[in-house]
Amino acid sequence: MVWWFSWLCLLFFLFTSELNCSLSSSNSSSPPSSRHVCNSDESSALLQFKNSFQVNHSIYGGLEFVSAKTDFFSPRTDSWAKYEDCCRWSGVTCERVTGHVSGLNLSFGGLQGILHSNSSLFSLGHLKMLDLSYNDFMGSSISSKFGGFVSMTYLRLSHSNFTGKIPSEISQLSKLVSLKLCSGLVSLGPHEKTTIDTLTMKGIALNLTSLRVLILNSVDMSSVVPESFLNLSSSLTSLFLFDCNLRGKFPGTLFHLPNLEELDLRGNTNLTGYTPKSNWSSPLNYLGLSETKISIDLHFLTSSLKSLRALCLEECNFTGSRSHLELSGNLTQLMWLDLSRNSFGGQIPWSLLNLEHLHYLNLSSNMFVGELPEIHGNSTKASSTLHDSSKKQLVGGSIPMGLSVLCLYNNSLSGTIPSWVYSLPSLEILWLDGNEFTGNINDFQSLSLSTLYLSHNYLSGVVKLEKFQNLRSLTSLDLSYNPLMVSFQNFSNFTLPKLSALYMSGCKITQFPYFLRTSTQLKYLDLSDNQIQGNVPTWVLDVGRNSLSYFNLSHNFLTGTIEQFLWKNIEYVDLSSNLLKGKVPIPSPSTKFFLMSNNQLTGALPSTICNLTSVQVIDLSNNSFSGRIPQCIGNFSQDLSVLDLHMNQFRGRIPSTFPKGNILRNLDLHGNQLEGTLPQSLVNCRKMEVLDLGDNKLNDTFPNWLESLPELQVLILGSNRLYGPIGSPETRFPFRKLRIIDLSFNQFGGPLPTRYFQKLVAMKNVQDDELKYMGDYYYQDTVTVVMKGLYLELVKIQTMFTTIDFSNNVFTGKIPAVIGELKSLKGLNFSSNKLKGPIPSAFCNLTNLEWLDISSNMLSGEIPRQLADLTSLAKLNLSGNQLVGPIPSGNQFDTFENDSYSGNWGLCGYPLSKTCINDEAPQPPLFDKQDGDMNGFDWKIVWMGYGCGMVIGLSVGYIVLSIGKVDHGVRVMGRKIRSRMAKRAKKTSVGTRKW
Ligand SMILES: *[C@@H]1O[C@H](CO)[C@@H](O)[C@H](O)[C@H]1NC(C)=O
Ligand SMILES: *[C@@H]1O[C@H](CO)[C@@H](O)[C@H](O)[C@H]1NC(C)=O
Repeated sequence: MVWWFSWLCLLFFLFTSELNCSLSSSNSSSPPSSRHVCNSDESSALLQFKNSFQVNHSIYGGLEFVSAKTDFFSPRTDSWAKYEDCCRWSGVTCERVTGHVSGLNLSFGGLQGILHSNSSLFSLGHLKMLDLSYNDFMGSSISSKFGGFVSMTYLRLSHSNFTGKIPSEISQLSKLVSLKLCSGLVSLGPHEKTTIDTLTMKGIALNLTSLRVLILNSVDMSSVVPESFLNLSSSLTSLFLFDCNLRGKFPGTLFHLPNLEELDLRGNTNLTGYTPKSNWSSPLNYLGLSETKISIDLHFLTSSLKSLRALCLEECNFTGSRSHLELSGNLTQLMWLDLSRNSFGGQIPWSLLNLEHLHYLNLSSNMFVGELPEIHGNSTKASSTLHDSSKKQLVGGSIPMGLSVLCLYNNSLSGTIPSWVYSLPSLEILWLDGNEFTGNINDFQSLSLSTLYLSHNYLSGVVKLEKFQNLRSLTSLDLSYNPLMVSFQNFSNFTLPKLSALYMSGCKITQFPYFLRTSTQLKYLDLSDNQIQGNVPTWVLDVGRNSLSYFNLSHNFLTGTIEQFLWKNIEYVDLSSNLLKGKVPIPSPSTKFFLMSNNQLTGALPSTICNLTSVQVIDLSNNSFSGRIPQCIGNFSQDLSVLDLHMNQFRGRIPSTFPKGNILRNLDLHGNQLEGTLPQSLVNCRKMEVLDLGDNKLNDTFPNWLESLPELQVLILGSNRLYGPIGSPETRFPFRKLRIIDLSFNQFGGPLPTRYFQKLVAMKNVQDDELKYMGDYYYQDTVTVVMKGLYLELVKIQTMFTTIDFSNNVFTGKIPAVIGELKSLKGLNFSSNKLKGPIPSAFCNLTNLEWLDISSNMLSGEIPRQLADLTSLAKLNLSGNQLVGPIPSGNQFDTFENDSYSGNWGLCGYPLSKTCINDEAPQPPLFDKQDGDMNGFDWKIVWMGYGCGMVIGLSVGYIVLSIGKVDHGVRVMGRKIRSRMAKRAKKTSVGTRKW
């Protein structure tokens, strides 16, 4: 039983339920013992029932392997012959004495069609056992006629595509011993759930007094009060309510049901309550509380439930501290333990885990530290005394011979991988990625090893891939991001025939892995961030022709041209950051991500790109494409969310074909030679977050009509030929989410747009400091901004980042005081305009401001003293104005240099040599200023003056100048991409931090 759990849980979280619901159906088919001939009316009822369906065995989709692995009884209704005794038909059982049909097992029968209320099935009044699980009743509702089978003891209608309400008449089946009504389909996938209400649930609990097994996984119970279960029969042994959307407090008394062996409440994320805190003796051998809010006293639980064989506590709610994992050591029967995603810290208490019997251990995504223990056979309990030293623990007992799954990813485990891990004889899945393991990788003994994930560690040495030669079952191998070097002998006979996923990113590989050339099952290939040079051989572009879905060779040194891609089912192609030349090849229409940025591709973008009708992200930026952008580019894929063509030589007009309802999130055409006006159809891009049209030759007035785009956060129109006044808003919430606006280097004129400034809501609200970036896991938005006087390409845009750049235009008039309300501004640049009047003292409200450039205008008057309160200010440029009077002193003002003020003949005081006559000259700062050379990021240090180190230190965080984008991996293995990415980001940011 437990083995079954493990097996499915691994493949698919939701899949576990399949098991529970189908397990015992295999033994319910009794041998045809009866010699009695069946009644002709029952025989014809059966035939009529069968004939009301199609028999279609292809409905099993992904589930065939389940039946293959389990000898599920699969009835052959097609062999039912009219003139034969129906008691001998496949799936039919009769009563010995009377010959009445008493059992019908048609699970996995391939039946497809509607099960009507007037079906002849309901005339089989003597049925005691009925199993119709794993068929496809095409959304039929469960008929109230099922309540008429008064003798029924076993009723199973699971995973047969029933929908609607479970009829209350079910509670009339008072002899039921086992009831399985799992919602769902024969195959995996989203499905409509059946529902049950409180009254029916109460009826089942009250009336079915012999009930032992109740399995209602995935039935929608959102309207059921948990108290409905209170009266459940004390003979109950199994209660499965996985993924039922149960809410409220789970009655604690149910944990005490005297015969309960299996309890599954997983996935009811709104279910609260407590596990017992005293007197809990129970025969429970399986307990699943993952992803509930039930409060768990883990130590008491593990000391009470001595029969536990499987414990699933993924992402749970525990009482007490999580600084270490408190287990009792009493779980000597345990075979299956899942404590993943719980942020437990400290060392793993290996000696309490009773490794010997474990088949499955998942402690991933916690904060465990320390080394994996050495296991010393025969050494006894004394071992546990070593348990809290930072050295390797010694654990007594023998190697866990049965351990087939060991998942410890996303922790902070260190040290070498101990030898027992390599010698586990039954190991199938090993996930140690995202830790701090060191040392070499040795040889694995287990011939059943199928998945080996060791990425994101500090493993070193040379890994000869040939060493995996004996692992004939190996399907997935991930060695990425370790300081190791992978080598393979090309042109040897070595192959890995079952390999379907190979991730070797950042493994210092210098040649193509020739051993893959015969691969027919390869789905995922990641060789990014390596040192592979030269032309891409044709066989590489054909590897796994029918199977490959993910191909990543980005960040290598590939040269030459690529004529065409041959993959039929490819979804992700990433060849960015290489040296590829020539025309761009277009992959098959199945492609969802097409990334070839940072190459030397030339020529026009072929209109065949519009054959990619499922594409979500296209990034061809930083190439040398020329010609016009194909007209179709706006409306060929309904899923397109990112179109990035920045830094090319596209000319002509921007296509005007963005249809209503498109989901484009990022359109980046920066740095081309596009002309003409902005297409009005951009207003159809209601999901647009980033619109970057900077550095082109666009000739238009300000596109006020973009103000209605509700999600627009970044608008870059700088360095074009745009002109005229900005005007006033026409909607109530113009540019509601705008945080970055760049209009610099255009011919915009007239007064600054006070009415817009009044309404830029997103710039008024200071966001929390949580580190968030724009974009998703596949594509990180980038944008080029002038920050603190430097051109920077932000590889990631932090959502806190807020700037206005209107420099180098011909704006006139005063700077409106309302600017002071844009409290989240980090940077403000109005330089090189024709602005007049004083610097508004309201600037002192911009407490997040880090750089302010209003140079080269005609501003007059004194510098408001209050500006000295802007303790975040790192760069100030007031030069080239007509300012007079003393320069404020204190805080950041003691760190600015002469050139902040040059060209204002009326200014005096530090740092200028001219002293103020009537004023007390401010004191120079007492510390030694370092000479900041402006080509690096030394400003971090330079301006880290007086008590603002904290603030500046923080500000560095929102600029992630990663040398190469590393976050380009996609995993579709049912793992938590999110946490892996977070971990990865954590690791890389440490590396790029410079100060
Ligand atoms: C399930 O029923 C729905 C109708 O409710 C039908 O569209 C679908 O094809 C059926 N089968 C599967 C496997 O989804
Ligand atoms: C309980 O079962 C009896 C028949 O055995 C039936 O008459 C009665 O309605 C049932 N009660 C509920 C609440 O379904």
